[in-house]
Amino acid sequence: MSQIIYPTTNFKQTETLTIARGDGAYVYDSEGKQYLEGLAGLWCTSLGYNNRELIEATTEQMGKLSYSHMFGGKTHQVGIDLAEKLSAMVPVENAKIFFGNSGSDANDTHIKMLRYYFNAIGKPQKYKIISRERSYHGVTVASAALTGLPPNHTHFDLPFDALGVLRTDAPHYYRSGLSNETETEFVDRIVNNLEQLILREGADTIAAFIVEPITGASGVIVPPEGYYQKVQAVLNKYDILFWADEVITAFGRTGNDFGCTTVGIPKPDMMTLAKQLSSAYMPISASVIRGDMYQAMIEPSNKVGVFGHGYTYSGHPVACAVSLKTLEIYQRDNMFAHAAKTGAYMQKRLAEFKNHPLVGEVRGKGMIAAIELVANKQSGLAFTNGLVGNFAMQACQNNGLICRAVAGSSLAFCPPLIVTEAQIDEMIEKIAISLTQTLDFVSREGLMVK
Ligand SMILES: Cc1ncc(COP(=O)(O)O)c(C=O)c1O
Repeated sequence: MSQIIYPTTNFKQTETLTIARGDGAYVYDSEGKQYLEGLAGLWCTSLGYNNRELIEATTEQMGKLSYSHMFGGKTHQVGIDLAEKLSAMVPVENAKIFFGNSGSDANDTHIKMLRYYFNAIGKPQKYKIISRERSYHGVTVASAALTGLPPNHTHFDLPFDALGVLRTDAPHYYRSGLSNETETEFVDRIVNNLEQLILREGADTIAAFIVEPITGASGVIVPPEGYYQKVQAVLNKYDILFWADEVITAFGRTGNDFGCTTVGIPKPDMMTLAKQLSSAYMPISASVIRGDMYQAMIEPSNKVGVFGHGYTYSGHPVACAVSLKTLEIYQRDNMFAHAAKTGAYMQKRLAEFKNHPLVGEVRGKGMIAAIELVANKQSGLAFTNGLVGNFAMQACQNNGLICRAVAGSSLAFCPPLIVTEAQIDEMIEKIAISLTQTLDFVSREGLMVK
């Protein structure tokens, strides 16, 4: 066992797999075994591994300027260029952009940005943030408090109240719809719950509502049609900002430029971006706000002398250079259209598993999907712990496919955007074999519930 404390790993667990190299949509372990990367690393390696153009952009920038900070307005051209390009791409009005290093710190930045902004406009009491059950927004103290998954809370004593985190329903009809309730009735019920929460807390105390347009780590929840339009209407009514955490869904993942486009939110007020922004070649994140929010903070920051927030690596030039090249490749190669086409094919092929005795629901959009395994197909009864999901994930791995068991027993799939239909076929074949092996295991262990 090495000296590493592994992230999101049981302390009791020892090393499971040593990845040695990657090429295209594949990675190879230290024994040379090939795996199709069915989760694009952690939902991030959009352009795959060993992309020569990205490597060249990185090394060229390393040679030119390997580091420079951005405190006090010190800047560099590649950072300015990236911000300009991003600002033109995102659906946020006159977008202004703060750079960080990870999705978690981008969300932390926005929590502070919201406080700074509402203090600036004379509404200091408007600081609370509504987040959903089963959401994932990161693991720093503040972003973990936004996250709505128990494993990220247990033993950490997070300061939910101090941060003003409020919780509302996850829009997952399959898991949370009541018997005899239609999808529309479900949406109306949970949107009404949202409105009641706002009324209970007082709209003038609530700053923003944060959502992943389509979730990832919580099991790829695709909300029913119309959900976001009804949510947006409530937020408009009470003057609450819409904050899209697009750390996974941005840059083609859902078959469009942004998840907001896919789910029909034309103008989010704030966005957080990371992962596919650099195709994971370098760590970088972006916290995006409306231009008028930035304008409102200019004088107040002048009064205190500074906006006292920034990271050593905010706007790291090498990360900016590789991100800029990544965005250029997305546009030049029509990567989002490619993702839409291959994504539609992937969803069609994954839907073939709907009749499998272990499968409760197959869901997804574009190039992100999940298969939820259940203990009783008719009732949708969930397995009581993650044992079956983990078995299935391990079976996939043994069969040369990397994926991830999330939210108990859902298998998540999110291959690099560059995958071909032939590679999707390969993925489907490996899933099929792995599900057969999982069914044998479940039957042997008597884990199905009649
Ligand atoms: C939607 C979302 N937000 C935030 C994060 C946190 O990003 P990071 O792991 O880079 O801190 C993640 C990570 O998976 C995510 O999926």
